[in-house]
Amino acid sequence: MTIDTKILSALRAAGRNGVAGTELSQRLGISRAAIWARIEELRTLGYGIEASPHHGYQLLSVPDVLHADDLLSSLGRTKVIGRDIRVFGETTSTNDVVEKLARDGVKEGAVVFAEAQTKGRGRLGRKWVSPPRKGLWFSILLRPPLHPLAVTQLTIAAATALFRAVRSQTGLTPEIKWPNDILIRGKKTAGILTELSAEPDKVKYVILGMGISVNLVTGDFPPELRRLATSLRIETSQRQNRAELAVRILQELDRDYDRVCAGQFEALADEWEEHCTTIGHRVAIQVGGRRIQGTAESLDTDGALLLRTQHGHLERIIGGDVTVEK
Ligand code: BTN
Repeated sequence: MTIDTKILSALRAAGRNGVAGTELSQRLGISRAAIWARIEELRTLGYGIEASPHHGYQLLSVPDVLHADDLLSSLGRTKVIGRDIRVFGETTSTNDVVEKLARDGVKEGAVVFAEAQTKGRGRLGRKWVSPPRKGLWFSILLRPPLHPLAVTQLTIAAATALFRAVRSQTGLTPEIKWPNDILIRGKKTAGILTELSAEPDKVKYVILGMGISVNLVTGDFPPELRRLATSLRIETSQRQNRAELAVRILQELDRDYDRVCAGQFEALADEWEEHCTTIGHRVAIQVGGRRIQGTAESLDTDGALLLRTQHGHLERIIGGDVTVEK
């Protein structure tokens, strides 16, 4: 934990009561002058910290920027996810940054956020719109003890974590579209790009890239996407706190990652199925050059979609582009 993380954690815990400079200095083992210097630095980053003789330091407001120390301080202790958080002002794609970390042998659980991506990408080679400070664009490095074919379980765990975090932050009930889209009133608000490196029967690492359109306004989306995409701000008519949402997602995912690694995917699959609008509907799925039509029946134990085709066969689909037919 850095000094800033410790200061912000102490200020958060103290709330309106505040915390005295002497107490901070004793707890952190640094001089009061050093505490003052760090507080000044946090103020220049936009943190509203008041100093008063009665209350000491009080945290009154936080800026709408992603700050690694602040995210760590709000996150608290997690088992795996978010033990290491890095924030970039701008990057090509956070999945690329995490891939480099993975090759360099960084431990699982590292999370890379970018305020903006210049080459954000979605599934099937699509571009992912990632304007500065409007969304959450981040990737997580995982090294799960899973067979490569079971990695869909992680995408499903991530979609469920996103679902819960969005619902608790906004009060809206999103829908999950198999396997990785979060929709609100039928429009896409978030997506997940899972990339992996694997040997034939063992995963080396997984990169879970998540994009959430948090505070975009309609003009931030290219015209061709406006019919299909939305943001939490558009849907709630309110700016949303990005850092708070990020922390909720990481906390939810930390719990579910643990369950997936412990072979307890079933409970998660039930929750996912409950909110998945794809199940029970007639769908058309584009898998490479092939288009398959049928009814999405359920989820297989490894996260694959079980599709009853128009010819009555049950097919297992592990990836593809789904259109729900009305
Ligand atoms: C999709 O729905 O097609 C997946 C979108 C995933 C976007 C995120 S944003 C963070 C990470 N970096 C990327 O380049 N893509 C993912």
